[in-house]
Amino acid sequence: MSSLAPGRILRPGATIGILGGGQLGRMMVLAGIPMGFEFACLDPGGVASPCGQVAGHTVKAPFDDLDAAAELASSCDRITYEFENVSPDVVSRLVDGGLMPQGAELLATSRHRLREKQALQNAGFPVAPFARVVDEESLNAAIEQVGLPAVLKTATGGYDGKGQAVVHTEAEALQALEDLGPRELVLEGFIPFEKELSVVVARSIHGDVEAFPVAENEHVDGILRVSIAPARIPSSVAVTTVRTAERLAEALGVVGVVGVEFFLLPDGSIVINEIAPRPHNSGHYTMDGCTTDQFEQHLRAICGWPLGNPGMHTPVVMANLLGEEARRWGDEIDKIPAGLEVKTHLYGKAEARPGRKMGHINIVTEYVDQALEFLGDRGLRGAQR
Ligand SMILES: Nc1ncnc2c1ncn2[C@@H]1O[C@H](COP(=O)(O)OP(=O)(O)OP(=O)(O)O)[C@@H](O)[C@H]1O
Ligand SMILES: [Mg+2]
Repeated sequence: MSSLAPGRILRPGATIGILGGGQLGRMMVLAGIPMGFEFACLDPGGVASPCGQVAGHTVKAPFDDLDAAAELASSCDRITYEFENVSPDVVSRLVDGGLMPQGAELLATSRHRLREKQALQNAGFPVAPFARVVDEESLNAAIEQVGLPAVLKTATGGYDGKGQAVVHTEAEALQALEDLGPRELVLEGFIPFEKELSVVVARSIHGDVEAFPVAENEHVDGILRVSIAPARIPSSVAVTTVRTAERLAEALGVVGVVGVEFFLLPDGSIVINEIAPRPHNSGHYTMDGCTTDQFEQHLRAICGWPLGNPGMHTPVVMANLLGEEARRWGDEIDKIPAGLEVKTHLYGKAEARPGRKMGHINIVTEYVDQALEFLGDRGLRGAQR
């Protein structure tokens, strides 16, 4: 187990800085204001960014601007991040300054798929077979090792299924190498999963660990569309998945929340796909389904408060609103059938680019099939737009 992060308990009245101005930061702020915290965020979009709109202070600057990070630090008692591509220089300076109990290591590991897989494998966790690819020679060796079909992914910078290609033949693999390269890549064995699952787990600066229930996730074109919580899986699988996430939080010395994505295989075993050391899209159901949500839990963890109860009080079906869907949802709000409890969470993004996450809805219901039908009827389950 890694050593615990330094840091005293942060009391109401303190200011928390957030690197990144996206929706995850926005929802941290919305959860943290009732706790008595003030917020400052750093984002190139400034006060127009989803988080900048709700934070009390904003520094408008690029993520690799060391002076801007220093300016943020000067007004903050603690700093966290809401996305993974902040510059390592900025992060290490803030960690050295004692402001970031999450440390630099997990971020550096999880933003690089090869290092991430290696770290998980070294710690004894199940991952898909993988190999490093930089050119045609290493691609052929990787195919030899991993087999086909496989998924060729960029080592860094990918998200929402971008920067990856499923390949079935050597010719397809070569084409994908041409399309994605020249850069460091990883070839992963294709996992014929039965379901995709995820767990958000929190570990506090005191070393306390609490995991949220397992969510079941549907992706379309690599983008998360729908999460169903609790996952419709045997309880033995749920227990193993949660325990694995808890062990991972300990083994990797997590501070704050981390989202752990899994593949469930037909034989009931699980494989870890990837981790994200921050609140996770598939954990948005906790906002309306759990006693404590993932954003409050993250703040509790990094501020040294007792972790909250992650237990669910109701099942939830979460659907992302992508691109134009958010505006269309706004037009439909008065047409939701009576008795269907739907919570709307919008991110305040101006430009509705196709596939862009503009918001999400949480359908709070015991009747999951009905909720899925409701989403299907509105085109919120299948193809994205
Ligand atoms: N090895 C694999 N076998 C089968 N399917 C895969 C594999 N890797 C990825 N996928 C599919 O592609 C989706 C996106 O992959 P991954 O999670 O690696 O990418 P990402 O771009 O980092 O996504 P995000 O950060 O949005 O979760 C997965 O959720 C899964 O549906
Ligand atoms: Mg993923």
